[in-house]
Amino acid sequence: MHTQVVGAEGIDQAVKWLRRGEAVAFPTETVYGLGADGLNDAACRKIFQAKGRPADNPLILHVLDKEGLAALSSQALPDTVSQLVEAFWPGPLTVVVRAADFVPEAVRAGLDTVAVRAPNHPMARRLIAELGRPIAAPSANRSGRPSPTRAEDVVQDLGGLIPLVIDGGPTEVGLESTVVDCTVYPPVLLRPGSVTEGEIVSVIGALGSPDAQSPVRSPGMKYRHYAPQAPVIWIQSRDFEVIERAVRDIQNEYQNPLYMAPERLIGKLPGTVYNLGMTDKDVGNRLYRGLRDLDRQSPSAIVVIWQSHDGMARAIANRLEKASTRQVVS
Ligand code: TXA
Ligand code: MG
Repeated sequence: MHTQVVGAEGIDQAVKWLRRGEAVAFPTETVYGLGADGLNDAACRKIFQAKGRPADNPLILHVLDKEGLAALSSQALPDTVSQLVEAFWPGPLTVVVRAADFVPEAVRAGLDTVAVRAPNHPMARRLIAELGRPIAAPSANRSGRPSPTRAEDVVQDLGGLIPLVIDGGPTEVGLESTVVDCTVYPPVLLRPGSVTEGEIVSVIGALGSPDAQSPVRSPGMKYRHYAPQAPVIWIQSRDFEVIERAVRDIQNEYQNPLYMAPERLIGKLPGTVYNLGMTDKDVGNRLYRGLRDLDRQSPSAIVVIWQSHDGMARAIANRLEKASTRQVVS
């Protein structure tokens, strides 16, 4: 199959593919998604095929607004859901609610709940509006790989497997949405993202603890994830002595490993270093891009040096825990 890359002018064509039951990739503000008609079970199964995604990992349905969400739920929306979507939609927050019967089996992956979000990227919104139905979309990467933040990343993973990619340039956030399970009270954070726990708590009050729930509430979180081909070593420290010592050990063990580090460390590390920027927002935005760019050079290892405690830090740490094969902690 030839994979066509189009701009905004190709949205009509993307809608045609979706109506025919095919899966196409499109940008959101978080990462690129691989979308299919969210009410068509056979179409949603194509997503699993193209990604090589385990069948027990459910999909997120993308809608325009709270009304779109309410239509997919078997129950009146709990107050916590209304408060969350009023505060953060459209935006990088996904809520899990009780699923209406007609939500396809492939979307729910056997659960009686469904994850829903309203993206705020104009191309994603046009696609949903023109299709007139929710779009099921996981990140548009082969399963286990870093999520794509550029159209070329999608082509690298899914070229030849899907008919079309809408290119909207690099994504704004760079990490996947925050996922909150609102089928329990208090709601539970299933996946940290750029909407932080603190921001959520300020809107709905305390969150519940995940261990009060059944072991795997968010099936997607149990797999190794976000990983390039090369082994990833994460040096989790801000202490330059600790970093120096770890780097010396790694230099002895690996031939020419490649480094990613915050701007303040550039020039203090061996070789050319991928600049993660200054703020956690920068790091979130550049992490997957950097992992993919460095991986293309087939290094013996990728060494990520980063530690922080504010804002998006929890989301970044969560992705690095899953991407890394080894961690050095100070
Ligand atoms: O930012 C994002 O969320 C991107 C863009 C494309 O919107 N999508 C994305 O999808 O990251 P995906 O499939 O890579 O991650 C969906 C996450 C997984 O961890 C999955 O297990 C969880 O949401 N999830 C989906 N449905 C669920 C449900 N009913 N209950 C609990 N977790 C669910
Ligand atoms: Mg994903």
